[in-house]
Amino acid sequence: MPTVPQFQTFRTEIAGVSVVDLAAKYGTPTFVYDGAKIVERINDLRKFDVIRYAQKACSNLAILDLVRRNGVLVDAVSAGEIRRALAAGFVPKGEPAPIVYTADIFDREALALCVEHGLHVNCGSPDMIAQLGEAAPGSEITLRINPGFGHGHSQKTNTGGQQSKHGIWHEQLNDCLLIADQHGVRVTGLHMHIGSGTDLEHLGQVCGAMEKAALEVGRTITTISAGGGLPIPYNSSQSYVDLDQYFDLWNAVRNRLQDAFGHAISLEIEPGRYLSAEAGYLLAEIRAIKSMGENKFYVVDAGFNNLARPILYGSYHPMSIALASGETEDRPHQDVVVGGPLCESGDIFTQTEGGFVGTRSLPAAGIGDYLVIECAGAYGFVMGSNYNSKPLAAEVLIQDGQTHLVRERQSFENLIAGEHIPR
Ligand code: LLP
Repeated sequence: MPTVPQFQTFRTEIAGVSVVDLAAKYGTPTFVYDGAKIVERINDLRKFDVIRYAQKACSNLAILDLVRRNGVLVDAVSAGEIRRALAAGFVPKGEPAPIVYTADIFDREALALCVEHGLHVNCGSPDMIAQLGEAAPGSEITLRINPGFGHGHSQKTNTGGQQSKHGIWHEQLNDCLLIADQHGVRVTGLHMHIGSGTDLEHLGQVCGAMEKAALEVGRTITTISAGGGLPIPYNSSQSYVDLDQYFDLWNAVRNRLQDAFGHAISLEIEPGRYLSAEAGYLLAEIRAIKSMGENKFYVVDAGFNNLARPILYGSYHPMSIALASGETEDRPHQDVVVGGPLCESGDIFTQTEGGFVGTRSLPAAGIGDYLVIECAGAYGFVMGSNYNSKPLAAEVLIQDGQTHLVRERQSFENLIAGEHIPR
């Protein structure tokens, strides 16, 4: 289990590369990823038979290529993610399935792609079973079960229980086995994902539900997936899940199922945040410093168009300041509100859940200095938007001390591509 970082509020480098050099070379706002950190996190999970990356967390092709080269398989939740996986070199078929399509519906494009490439599908609704059965009889599928309870770092990331639209309700498992039978598909896998950013207690509760469901399905089961949801510490007082304990819980379930069925059961885990969150930094420049009564604001050139988590969930992200002068001495601190450039009052990075503006104690800085928002590698770039006609940020990957531009900053031409004025 990794040691919880002591987050600093002053920095000069990211993964050994000077922040000033990064900003000079690539501009701001830019997401910077530390490739070595992703590999470190992959290695933490090697006890599982399959590490399946939930690419929704960060799906840049270079990141997908990196995880693939490190033996990680991939999950796709849309036609776009299927195409990304293929473009990054994942082959469609294999044992275990290199790409699994996991969703609650098939849109027509995703269904066509799954059939064309013979992808393994993790069905999150009875309708998906029937639709796949009609289009590709004889398929082997996984069922995503909603075990009747869920938990996440916020209600909005809880994916279990009756208020959640996700998965197949646990009491309908038998009906789904009938649907599968009628449509000539075989249920070979079971999957549960109760939420994102949860804790060991809730993650552990899934094991019992999985064992019960697997025994209900019976001997066709060859794979069980623990889903994702592993938390990471966004501040020094939070913690990681004890991975040894977590693995042991799942391994015990797997062993009992192997005894019951008399054949090997493969154990998968499906993390997104755990692999990419801590590797990612959002680099922004301070463009205005102003006071509103008692509040002092650092206004930077990145907003919730780049990192939506604070405004969506009140999420806390560590932040640090890097000085444009390259000075290495920390400065006296002050409490500041950190906001972005968008024409919307909620464009504030220091807000807290339930709170609105919030403040952060950060070193004194000036115009042209840099703000680094940390733990931004999961659900950062991928949830970006063009609000206020802001271009999508650039993305840079650092590997072995080398920087690689892995996504160019979006151009204006690209931003308006596809728009037409009727003549
Ligand atoms: N598997 C399934 C089926 C999922 O729905 C998810 C996340 C994962 C795996 C990966 O979960 P993770 O290991 O990353 O916690 N935008 C939110 C998170 C939404 C997660 C959606 N599903 C956030 O920024 O916290």
